[in-house]
Amino acid sequence: MKPNILVLYYSQTGQLRQILDSILSGILDKVEVSYGVIEPVKPFPFPWKALNFFDAMPETVEHLPVNIKPLSQDIINKDYDLVILGYQPWFLNPSQPTTAFLQSEFVKVLNDKPVITVVGCRNMWLHAQEKVKEYLCAANAHLVGNVVLTDTNPNLVSLLTVIRWSFKGQKAASGWLPTAGVQDQDIADAERFGHIIYKHLNENNLIDLHRELLMQRGVVLKPGLVILEQRGIKNFRFWAKYIRAKGGPGDPNRAKRVLLFKNLLLTAIFILSPLSFLTAKIKQLIMYNSLVKDVDYFKHLQFEKGKL
Ligand SMILES: Cc1cc2nc3c(=O)[nH]c(=O)nc-3n(C[C@H](O)[C@H](O)[C@H](O)COP(=O)(O)O)c2cc1C
Repeated sequence: MKPNILVLYYSQTGQLRQILDSILSGILDKVEVSYGVIEPVKPFPFPWKALNFFDAMPETVEHLPVNIKPLSQDIINKDYDLVILGYQPWFLNPSQPTTAFLQSEFVKVLNDKPVITVVGCRNMWLHAQEKVKEYLCAANAHLVGNVVLTDTNPNLVSLLTVIRWSFKGQKAASGWLPTAGVQDQDIADAERFGHIIYKHLNENNLIDLHRELLMQRGVVLKPGLVILEQRGIKNFRFWAKYIRAKGGPGDPNRAKRVLLFKNLLLTAIFILSPLSFLTAKIKQLIMYNSLVKDVDYFKHLQFEKGKL
């Protein structure tokens, strides 16, 4: 009998689906794959209008997501040997459709199942993964692996290209800026993870899976990211509360606060970024030992509430 794999995911531009397809591409003849596509009832617009994009922050951060379409009973009621949950962070949290799924009744499909998370993002995913771990614990799922694909260009370059991609819909390189998103070669090379997953499924040894994924650079993590996410998530929590005090998603009463948030965030990123990079580097030197421990924690699968 071939192992039965359920792949659950949401993808706005198709990038995450490409990553998942690449991972599975070399083992499709050895496994049965079912897909459960997570879809918002009202799709998020793409390309985004800037106001809509930043207006999505408060509910993403406070885990008050949009409604999603029901997953089919055929998908939910089958028994699986493994579930692959693909998701992307939005504002340092799981994207709204992902959170909606994790809060829904359909999450029962994860009960007592081994789960691998696959993240496709710009480069900030730690806090989102902590939240996903928390939901997986609540669903009695067993996290057995994590694979993270990021845009490996320098931080400011990936920010400029993700802005061009999100607001103009242009992924392709232009001027001196490269193609946006996870590099094509990295997506193609993700095929190696599928072979590792199959080997461990076949040997009924998922306990050792993540160790081998890590050996194959399944998760690459720079210590500076821990500091940047700690700072970012504190600010997002404050702004989410401040904006929501004026109304719900799209409420014109909160538009001024959303614009203020947008302007301050962009200023912080592009103007204050060299300064905050420097202070993060100093902090990194001072806190080196505890950061090494944190990096080790975030590369692995265990969950300690409140780590970020
Ligand atoms: C509203 C929004 C917020 C995002 N926030 C983050 C983030 O906090 N960290 C990050 O690494 N990428 C972030 N991204 C990039 C996404 O994680 C993802 O890489 C991109 O949207 C493409 O994913 P797709 O498969 O849904 O098309 C954000 C994208 C959107 C649309």
